[in-house]
Parts: sequence; structure tokens; C-alpha cells
Amino acid sequence: MTDKVLYSLTGNKTQLIVEVGEYAEILHWGQPFNGDLSIARHALHRPVPYGRLDIDVPVTLTPELGRGSFGSPALEGHRAGQDWAPVMKVVKVDHGALGLKIYCEDTLAGLEIISELYLDQHDVIKTRQTLRNIGQGAYQVARLANTLPLPGRVSELMTYHGRWVYEFQTSRQSLTQGGYQQENRRGRTSHEHYPAFVAGTANFDELSGDVFGFHLAWSGNHRMRIDVKADGRRVMQGEAIYLPGEIELSEGASLSTPWLYATHSGQGLNEMSHHFHEHVRASILPSEFANKPRPIHLNTWEGIYFDHDPDYIMQMATQSAQMGVERFIIDDGWFKGRDGDKAALGDWFLDEKKYPNGLEPIVNHVNDLGMEFGLWFEPEMINKDSDLYRTHPDWLLEVKGYDQPTGRNQYVIDLSQPQAFEFLYQRLDHFLSTYNIGYIKWDMNREVVQPGHEGRASGHAQVERYYELVDRVRLNHPNVEIESCSAGGGRIDYEVLKRTHRFWASDNNDALERQTIQRGMSYFFPPEVMGSHIGASHCHSTRRRHSIEFRGLTALFGHMGIELDPVRESEEEKQGFEHYVELHKSIRTLLHSGKSWRIPTDDTAHQIQAVVAQDQSQAVVLIAQLAMPTNALSGHLRIPGLDPDALYQVTVIDQPTNYHDIVNYQPPWTTDGCQLTGRWCQDIGLTMPVLDAETALLVKLEQID
Ligand code: DGJ
Repeated sequence: MTDKVLYSLTGNKTQLIVEVGEYAEILHWGQPFNGDLSIARHALHRPVPYGRLDIDVPVTLTPELGRGSFGSPALEGHRAGQDWAPVMKVVKVDHGALGLKIYCEDTLAGLEIISELYLDQHDVIKTRQTLRNIGQGAYQVARLANTLPLPGRVSELMTYHGRWVYEFQTSRQSLTQGGYQQENRRGRTSHEHYPAFVAGTANFDELSGDVFGFHLAWSGNHRMRIDVKADGRRVMQGEAIYLPGEIELSEGASLSTPWLYATHSGQGLNEMSHHFHEHVRASILPSEFANKPRPIHLNTWEGIYFDHDPDYIMQMATQSAQMGVERFIIDDGWFKGRDGDKAALGDWFLDEKKYPNGLEPIVNHVNDLGMEFGLWFEPEMINKDSDLYRTHPDWLLEVKGYDQPTGRNQYVIDLSQPQAFEFLYQRLDHFLSTYNIGYIKWDMNREVVQPGHEGRASGHAQVERYYELVDRVRLNHPNVEIESCSAGGGRIDYEVLKRTHRFWASDNNDALERQTIQRGMSYFFPPEVMGSHIGASHCHSTRRRHSIEFRGLTALFGHMGIELDPVRESEEEKQGFEHYVELHKSIRTLLHSGKSWRIPTDDTAHQIQAVVAQDQSQAVVLIAQLAMPTNALSGHLRIPGLDPDALYQVTVIDQPTNYHDIVNYQPPWTTDGCQLTGRWCQDIGLTMPVLDAETALLVKLEQID
């Protein structure tokens, strides 16, 4: 007992107490405690009931069967059938400013594990395990997981599900005996199983409850679970899934898990998001462009699809610049033979039939209009109907001898083949070196069915080679920003965000659906990384129609863009685009640096969000009416996060055109404005206006000196 050492990691509102002796165990994760750490031992050491093993079995950072842990172990592997039940012993601890690096060894099994555990000032933990083979002969690894314990009071989960054009859907479920597990085997982060969940006390909500959020930073197959052990303890694990035989560690070789990010909030989901958002801003997002306002996009995809005509595209660019757009992007359809989605992926050469004068005149035109130029790529993919496939049929990621289903008519390139990797880099490098390209949209439009390289499973390696390819592009073209897209939101996670700058959240530009998708995404990501576009009034993915106000206000709260053909739009629509572009520019610094709040509503037909400046001097609040109001009167709008003692001028700055026609009177504060303290706004609130379904209203609050 006495040879155990207690370590404390402290964030702003969180403390981790880790006890390290022969093994390392987290004794406490949550509210900070000031005082003599040794109290933790007396207060937190467990009893040993009858009918179980005669010793207390800890949930260590690397649970092991050999130590009596009957739950899911951290490591599963073997060396030709031996060394399968290691018991790791701590041999060294480095206690740095931000965390702990704990070195463990099992000299009998010939294995070393380094557990890293850090806690930053935003209260975000990051942890990973690195396994090294220090024995003789190769070691086969089936699993290597990160493990974090949770308090017994955690009894409810918020998990994610989704699909193409329906990303980031959340659902609530109780956490009972048996626990919860999600697996993603789609070869990319996936729309279906976004690698995150939230666990908390009963009925946790946006403003209350103890919640613990988890995000596994990995863009491939993963498993995330939370076990309710038979003794009542809760244990969370997050790991990459390794396919059979995929990970073989030769002597001296090592393997690291993806980083697992986690945070505790004692005040519900909003505070959890504040921790993650600030961590993303400070430590995940590449820093090069941190101070650059995010340029407003015009993306050609839903405007012209594959129908590219340079003169027409230049007209689109001219119109875009007139509307205030700052970055013009040519999406899919510009390269050799790409007339539809059945052919040409892999042939990264300009289509000279479509672009007989090359790309230069368009890039120059766009730059002359004062906009950046951007271009779409889908580097990892190949169509069988392509020159690349005809020349290199052996570059397919596949298990030889088997057919595999296509996805969007395409296959995946085996990035572990050095020549294929080099070819892709050279093609990207060519375009980025030849033209003044400020941004690329990096797409990935299918799931990976047979990740085979030279007969062996290669799903994990494929993801690592993808990171390498992006990293090499970034290293040699540091001025190019990258958007991660995967049929919309199929590759959105913290590991890809370390090397990209923006996510395409969804191919669904329907403002109503976007409200839900964007809300789901907001739990782990700040608004500035979320691409959100104003689409055409007649939405392409749902066939719904929405007013420009609803579309504009919905796109406002992310990294805004427009995705349509401005040449064909009416003057009225164009004025609308111009208005929302202007509005976005006027508040984007606030939106992209402030604290985001999801505001509880009195009626579930509403969705309300706010962004409050870090210094609380101003805020914007968006009231979106998703469905018919349940009642004639919709209760009150209460705005958290303001300075309770400061006085604010409250003004409606955008509203539906028919706002006053649908009632006898709207609430007076919405027409004349009013002055209220932050405390009033938070505790008493303002009466909700009456809105038609699928409309929205924007409110601004400014502190009065
Ligand atoms: C899927 C993306 O999500 C779309 O935005 C678009 O880029 C298409 N691919 C192009 O093929």
C-alpha cells in the first residue's frame, strides 16, 4: 500500500487522481478537490466482498485477465500461442506539467506498454497506449484499447447514429447491466457510427448533470464500449479494430492506439462542448490559419454537377464575387473523362475537352475577382473505367480472387503500394504547384470492403497511409487549406482535423435537416470547422422548399458557403445570398471564437442556439422553428452564458418576411428591442415570438457600457 504513489492532474474544473504502484489506476475523475491527496486512499479504496477473488481487482489503465480482471482486457494478443495473458508492472513514471507517462513491462511475456494520460486547462483528457514487443519473435495483436473508469452514478448515454444525408443523429438510452458497444467496420470514420458518445447521470441535459464525453480520434474501424461490470463499476474503452492478422509486431516494433479524448462536465452537455471546442481550437486544429477569417465559399457541385463549361464557370465566379463570396471552388467533374460518377477516378489530369484553354484562365479570373481558388479531389479512389486502372489494375485495395461490391461505382486504391502512393502525391503536387490553389476539398465516397494488401488485412495501414498522404501534401504546400469530406460527413473526427481545416458536414443542404445534423455535430466540434452552405430553394436531397431566410440563417452558424448556380438564380434570391453573406461576415469573428450554447426550449418544436463572446460583451441567438408550435404560446427564451450583472441591448436582426402577418402582435421586444441584464435573460427570459414551421429569427445582444 505505502509504496503506491498518488498523482494529481488538474485542469480548470477537473481533477484526476491516479494511484500508481505495481499498476496504475484512476481513483477519481471529476470535480477538483483541494487538500491532502492521501485522503483519496481512505475514502476511495474498495471493500473485498465474499464470493469473489480474495483481493481487490482494480480497473487499471490496462485491465488484464492475469490480474483477475474479468472485463474486457486492454490487450489481446499472443506470440505463437504463448504470452497471451500478460501482467504488466509499472517500471517508471514521468510526471510532466500536463500529465503522466507510465512505463509498464512484463519481462516474461516480453512486452512493454506505455500509458500516456494528459489533462489540459480546458479539462480535456487525452490518453493512448503504446505496446512494444521486447521479446523474441513476432507478437500478434488482436486488440489494444484505451480504458477509463466512470463513477457508478453514470446511468444514461447519448449515442450517435446516422447515414448519408442524415449524419450526427443522437439517441438517448439507459446504461444498464451489460453496457453498450458500437463497432464501425466501414473503413472510414463513417456516417453510421461517429466515434463518440456521452455518458452521464440520470436525465443529464444541456445545462445540468454530470456528463463524461468521449471521442476516439481515428478515421477507420473502431470499437467503443462502456461496460457495466457485474459489481456495478462502469468502464469505458475506445480502440481501433484490427482485422485478423493485421497487426504483427516484429521484435522491437511498437503499436499505438488512437488518441482517446474525454472530458467531464458537472454542468451538463453545454459545458462538455465548451471543453471540447476550446481544446479543438487550442490543440487539434492546425494553427497556421488560426487568425484568418474563414472565407465564404461558393461550391459548384449542386449548381452544375459534372456539366463543366469554363466560360459559364467564370460567369458563376463573377456572380459569386458580386455576392461577397471569398473562395470559389470547382467540385467534381473537372478531370479527364469525368462526365458522370461511373468513370475517371484516378485520372488526375485536367479534362482538356472541357477545359481546352487549361485551368489557368479560370484561376486567374477567380483571383482577379479577389477570391481564392479551390479544387476538388478524391485521391484514394479509382474507377475501373479509368486509364489508371487500365494501366495499374494491381493497385486496387482488394483480397485477390474475390469480387467486391462497388460503392458509387468505384474502388479503393491500395495506399500501401509505394508506387500508387507516390503517383497520387505527384498528381496532387502537380496541381498545387502549377496553379494558385488555396484550398482543396478531399473527398472519399465509399466504404472499404476488402482492405487487403498482398493478401493480408490492411484496414489500419490504409488509414495511416491516408494520414501520411495528407501530411505530405501539407508539408509541401503549407498555404493550402484542406476540407475533409466523405460523401458529406463520413470522415469527421479529431485525428483528421489535426491535418485539415474544415469538414463538409453533410450532402444534405435542406435547412430543416441541417438544423438537426449541425446540432449533433456541435457537441464535439466548434462552428468554424463545420461547412454549412445555402443550397437552392428546392433542396436537392429532400425536395423540400425553404425560404432564403431559413436557409441563410441555418448556414450562418458554421463556416458558411453557397452551393448552387448563381447565374440561374433570381435577383431576389441573389439579394438574399448577398444579405446573408454580409450578415455572416459581420458576426463571423464572434461565431468562430465565442462559446456555443444549445438552449433548452419550452417547446420541442423549437431549436435554439447561441454564441456568446468569450468576454460576454455580445451574443447572437438563433431561434429555429422546426415544426408547428405545440401551443399557441411557446413559453420563454432564456439565454445562458451572459454576464449576469451587465446590461444588454436586445435586438432582432433577422426575421421571416411574413413575421408580422401571421399574428395580431408579436412580442414587443422583437419589434422595439429592449434592455435587460444578463441575469434577467438567463433566469426570467423573453417571451417567444410566433413563427411558422421552418422559419427562423436571429437576435443580437450587445452589452451597454
Ligand atoms: C460527395 C460530396 O459530399 C459532395 O459534396 C460532392 O463533392 C460529391 N461527392 C462530388 O462527387
